[in-house]
Amino acid sequence: MTGEKGFTLWFTGLSGAGKTTISKLLVEELHRRNARIEVLDGDVIRENLSKGLGFSKEDRDTNIRRIAFVANLLSRNGVPVITAAISPYREIRDEARQMMDGRFIEIYVKASVEACEERDVKGLYAKARSGEIKEFTGVSDPYEEPVDPEITVETEAQTPEESAQQIIDYLEKHGWLSHN
Ligand SMILES: Nc1ncnc2c1ncn2[C@@H]1O[C@H](COP(=O)(O)OP(=O)(O)OP(=O)(O)O)[C@@H](O)[C@H]1O
Ligand SMILES: [Mg+2]
Repeated sequence: MTGEKGFTLWFTGLSGAGKTTISKLLVEELHRRNARIEVLDGDVIRENLSKGLGFSKEDRDTNIRRIAFVANLLSRNGVPVITAAISPYREIRDEARQMMDGRFIEIYVKASVEACEERDVKGLYAKARSGEIKEFTGVSDPYEEPVDPEITVETEAQTPEESAQQIIDYLEKHGWLSHN
């Protein structure tokens, strides 16, 4: 069985950038290869582990620290993990990186606010613009871009499949995944 080495693919990017979409494709591909993979998706985590938390800086930080805590537990026991939450603050992402020293792979899922707003998959940008939703990342709340991520996927220029393949290529190249 491949995937015995644990690692964390830490996705970060705006709402609608493509984190969930790409994570699903990666899960399919890893399962095809009989590799283990667990996903901690922001939307799912906010329904259970972080239920009740809001979107203030403090609550966002708490949410991300919980995700990092679980990702660390899994990845240090050989289970590869994908985290797919906006994780807007650099400082907290770096905290997660320190915690998972050596098996933390930061992936900037990059798309402009304009592109994400154009997609508006969940209709949230419209609500943010109208003021119905406050503290919306990229509109009325900060997003701090990664400075030196291991991978950047440009989702305005790529298909989801190409973005997923870029990540698979990285994992193979760096020995996290055996070649198919
Ligand atoms: N290269 C790409 N990778 C991922 N998604 C893409 C790409 N190109 C276009 N898309 C489209 O962008 C949208 C991304 O939505 P998705 O729900 O995955 O975003 P998200 O980052 O998970 O947002 P949220 O933080 O709100 O959960 C989808 O409609 C997807 O089809
Ligand atoms: Mg998502």
